[in-house]
Amino acid sequence: MTGNEIRRKFLEYFERNGHKIVHSSPLLPANDPTLLFTNAGMNQFKDVFTGVEKRDYNRAVSSQKCIRAGGKHNDLDEVGKTARHHTFFEMLGNFSFGDYFKEDAIRFAWDFLVNELKLEESRLWFSVFEGDAEVPADDEARALWEKVGAKPERILGFGRKDNFWQMGDTGPCGPCSEIHYYMGEEPDNPEKNHPKWVNGEGDTTMEIWNLVFMQFERSEVEKGVFELKPLPAPSVDTGAGLERMTAVLQGVKTNYDTDLLMPIVEFSAQLSQKNES
Ligand code: ALA
Repeated sequence: MTGNEIRRKFLEYFERNGHKIVHSSPLLPANDPTLLFTNAGMNQFKDVFTGVEKRDYNRAVSSQKCIRAGGKHNDLDEVGKTARHHTFFEMLGNFSFGDYFKEDAIRFAWDFLVNELKLEESRLWFSVFEGDAEVPADDEARALWEKVGAKPERILGFGRKDNFWQMGDTGPCGPCSEIHYYMGEEPDNPEKNHPKWVNGEGDTTMEIWNLVFMQFERSEVEKGVFELKPLPAPSVDTGAGLERMTAVLQGVKTNYDTDLLMPIVEFSAQLSQKNES
């Protein structure tokens, strides 16, 4: 499958499941002084999550152009060092605005990866929020992953850094559950296809999709003092890197080797006459 086909497959899968296809918003967010560049698919829906804005749909799907080169989600320092970070990328995402919550978000993700894309279950890892003083452990997400078919030993708990998502210092936020994929050549080798590589060193096991269970809004009540309040209705925000998904499905080792980015690399090599590699 080409990268374009993967994007289309994602949009069409969620459209079949009642989601409205919404175009990517511009990279420069309109009316949002908290962000320099659009950093996630949910940005254009921020006010819908908090209940300030109403749309005529309560499920959406998009492929959002994103830049992560500053601010809270900054990948700039990783670019050139890993196989999976680049400052500009496309984020595939499905969204529920007070409609479905964890159960369907997890069911859709499993169904899309295992039944539509036919990814091997034995290469997938799932992470859930393990809880802290402010927000309890997400035992519900763990149980729901088991319900759709994930093996208990492939479901791992992580803390706030990895499994609680917020767009910036303020705004809608919540615990999240990520799906990681082992891309290596030895899926049966327990040392290689091992939980220590989930959120660990290297690129062989990499995050491919993040499901955020939007439950709270963080606001600054006075300078430097933040408060977490429940959203009007629990919602869902997900994000899957199109280039990462394409690398997995095309069986290449880096995002740069996919048909989404390689033509740009080749064109640049041709222009600079540095095409010996
Ligand atoms: N907004 C979530 C993220 O960017 C899905 O990871």
